[in-house]
This record gives sequence, structure tokens and C-alpha cells, in this order.
Amino acid sequence: MRITFCCAQTQAEPWLMDLRAALPGVDVSLWQPGAPPADYAIVWAPPQAFFDEQPQLKAAFNIGAGVDALLRLNIAPTTQLVRLDDAGMAVQMAEYVCHALIRHYRQFADYETQQHSSTWSQRAIPLRSQMPVGIMGLGVLGQRVARAVAQFDFPVNGWSRSAKQVDGVRCFHGEQGFSDFLAASKVLVSVLPSTPQTRDLLNRRTLSQLKKGGYLINVARGVQVVEDDLLLLLNEGHLAGAALDVFRTEPLPSAHPLWSHPKVTVTPHIAALTLRQESIAQIAAKIADVEAGKAVAGTVDRQRGY
Ligand code: NAP
Ligand code: GLV
Repeated sequence: MRITFCCAQTQAEPWLMDLRAALPGVDVSLWQPGAPPADYAIVWAPPQAFFDEQPQLKAAFNIGAGVDALLRLNIAPTTQLVRLDDAGMAVQMAEYVCHALIRHYRQFADYETQQHSSTWSQRAIPLRSQMPVGIMGLGVLGQRVARAVAQFDFPVNGWSRSAKQVDGVRCFHGEQGFSDFLAASKVLVSVLPSTPQTRDLLNRRTLSQLKKGGYLINVARGVQVVEDDLLLLLNEGHLAGAALDVFRTEPLPSAHPLWSHPKVTVTPHIAALTLRQESIAQIAAKIADVEAGKAVAGTVDRQRGY
């Protein structure tokens, strides 16, 4: 069996070493133009030339949860596309969202500012019942986030494409449920995949439907937010702030107004990083499933876009 590795912005050597250890007897090598045909690929944002040269692949394993970069390419329909499901990312997402939520709710940024002027001043804590958290996307990552947020006794709303029942979560679904979901939420968290349906979904009209003083946490993809509309609502005061991990252009250009906005916290797409050991263990198990003709968890539905 031959596996080819083609992952932009990833240091290849440790992956190749650990893949060879996890899959003894398998020929694992770094892809370069003209490389021999492989059975499987491990990819992150590969160039079109990669799939043009490797139409025989049985499966390509994406070393991330989001497959938006992959679905922009022309890939043989016989190549099964498989994404990571969880592989250590869900707990990181939960940490990131709870940190941003609690930092906002308990006004920790204000206490940090107070410390700079040696100011001892206690602030009132808003009612938790007045801080319902709406989670867009109730998939592998969204459900883990919902569970973590519910542990802190915040009311939790969830929104997904298909109807769901999740313990402790008031569930909404589909376009018809979106306005009610927004109106019921004060903190909005996106853990949605990037698809044609979710592009520009968070704009002036939709963000205005959040309760006044709302807060946005985007850990999904930048293209879901119309950034000018977000800035407008922050400046008008309808939104109290935002914690943003993803942007329409990454890296976020140094002159972009989001960098210096006093109500915005920026992080460089780190909410849930790919963990090498967990990912390799998952990919090895999935290759065994493909070889055994079993259904593979995390198989991408190309029509659906995730
Ligand atoms: P997932 O398991 O596929 O879950 C996606 C969820 O979104 C599902 O609940 C799905 O609904 C819902 N959804 C999709 N399209 C929708 C629509 N048009 N309207 C309403 N709901 C919709 O994905 P995941 O593993 O949780 O990952 C989610 C995303 O997180 C990834 O695609 C990626 O973009 C992002 N991510 C970001 C980072 C980071 O570091 N910032 C790291 C990892 C992942 P159904 O349940 O009905 O299908
Ligand atoms: C990271 O953004 C991922 O999709 O895994």
C-alpha cells in the first residue's frame, strides 16, 4: 500500500515519521509532482495539480474538520473524501468558546484594564438567565461546545440543518428556525462548515436579530461574517463585542480595523488545532475501515458541502 502526503503549511517530517510508525509496511512519502500513484492521500489545502496527477486514489484524508479548501478542487468522484472527526479538536473548541464567553460575561477584559491603573472596583454580574448562548452547528464540534457551555448553567440554544434533540439544548433547525433561534440568543457562536448556504450568513440583517448587547464568537470560517456589517453593529452598540478566530482574509491584514477595535478579540485561527498523534491514529483506523469495505465516519457528502 502506498500513501502520499500533501499538506500545505505543515512540517512534513514528523508526520511522515509517525505515519510510518503507525502503519508498518506501508510506503509513506511526501508528494511531489511526478510522484508514483498512491492508494491513499493525506492532505491539507493541496493544489489542483495533486488531484490531477492522482485520479486513482481510493480516499483522501483531510487533516482538519473543514473541507472547504478541498471542495473547491476538481477531484475524481471515485476518491472518497474523509475529514477528521474530533481527533482532539472538540475539547479545544469547547475551551476556546467557554474562555471567550466567560471573559465577556465576567468582564475580565475590564478588570485587566483596571489593573493598569491600580483600580479596585467590583462590577455587577449580569443574570446568567439573560445570557442565552446560541450555537450554530450541532455537529461533532458544536455538540461538544454546547455541552461545555451548559455545564456553566447558561441557557443554550442550538441550530442545525436537520432537526436534532440534544440534552440541555433548545434546538432549532433549517431556514425556518433561524430567526427564532437568533431572537432567543444573546451570545452567538458559529461552528458551522463553510458552504454556499453559510457564506455571508452573519450580516447586518441577521446579526441585528440577536438580543441587544449581543456578542459574537466565530470559530468556524471567516466568510460566514460580513465584516463591515459586524463593525457597523459594534459601533452602533447593538453588539457588545466579538471574539474572532477566523477571517475572510487570513492572515488578517495588518491594517484591518478588526485588529484595533476595542470591542474585538482576535486570534490567528487557533481555536482547534490538528493534533498529529490523534489524527494519525484516526486516519489509520479509517484506512482499515476502507480496506474492510466498512462505512467510514467523517465521509464528506460533496453535494451537501461538508
Ligand atoms: P460537522 O460535524 O459536519 O457539523 C456541522 C454542523 O453544521 C451540523 O450540525 C450541520 O447540520 C450544521 N450545518 C451545516 N450547514 C448548515 C446550514 N446551512 N444551516 C444550519 N446548520 C448547518 O462539522 P464539525 O466537525 O463540527 O466542524 C465544523 C466546522 O468548524 C468545520 O467545518 C470548520 O469550518 C470549523 N473548524 C474551525 C477550526 C478552527 O480552528 N477555527 C477548527 C476545526 C474546525 P446537520 O447536523 O443537520 O448536518
Ligand atoms: C481547521 O480550521 C479545521 O477545519 O480543522
